[in-house]
Amino acid sequence: MADRKRVAVLISGRGSNLKALLVAQGAADCPYKVALVVSNVEDAPGLDFARALGIATFARSHKGMKRAEFDALVDAELRAHKIEAVALAGYMRLLSPGFVEGWAGRMINIHPSLLPLYKGLDTHQRAIEAGDATHGCSVHLVTPELDDGPILAQAEVPILSGDTPDTLAARVLVEEHRLYPLALAELVRTL
Ligand code: GRF
Repeated sequence: MADRKRVAVLISGRGSNLKALLVAQGAADCPYKVALVVSNVEDAPGLDFARALGIATFARSHKGMKRAEFDALVDAELRAHKIEAVALAGYMRLLSPGFVEGWAGRMINIHPSLLPLYKGLDTHQRAIEAGDATHGCSVHLVTPELDDGPILAQAEVPILSGDTPDTLAARVLVEEHRLYPLALAELVRTL
């Protein structure tokens, strides 16, 4: 597909959602291409998926920098690569309001819960402890509040008796990998 929208993916770790986005862009009709992968963790394993495909990476630790200062560096990198949309994929860093404002309507996040339930960390454990029958993942537009912002897509999975946070996380992750490429494609088609 010609003129695919140029997307940056921001990661901090394993990068399995990044990988799912990269696999999906192999489809002829995929409307985006990952043009840059950013990590605030210099040795994040997910960076290898990008490097293997020759995709530009920007890996730099935020340590010792003010939040807004680091985000300005990232923003400059996104602009230099003519990025049109941003996908957070396990980016374990709160974003400064100025950065969020600059990408309003063009930045999405995937979160492992059925938002608005369980914002923040340990979502799988919290869903099990609450005795919920279902759990899942959500893709939402990023706004300054953590894991807030309009929900674009959700996928649900059952919580089974005997589930541990790990078994439940694995079931949710399958859905994340299916949902995120679809939601990103849908977003960029509107840009
Ligand atoms: C995923 O569960 C995602 O929903 C959450 O962080 C995790 C990242 O996993 N925001 P990965 O790095 O994409 O494998």
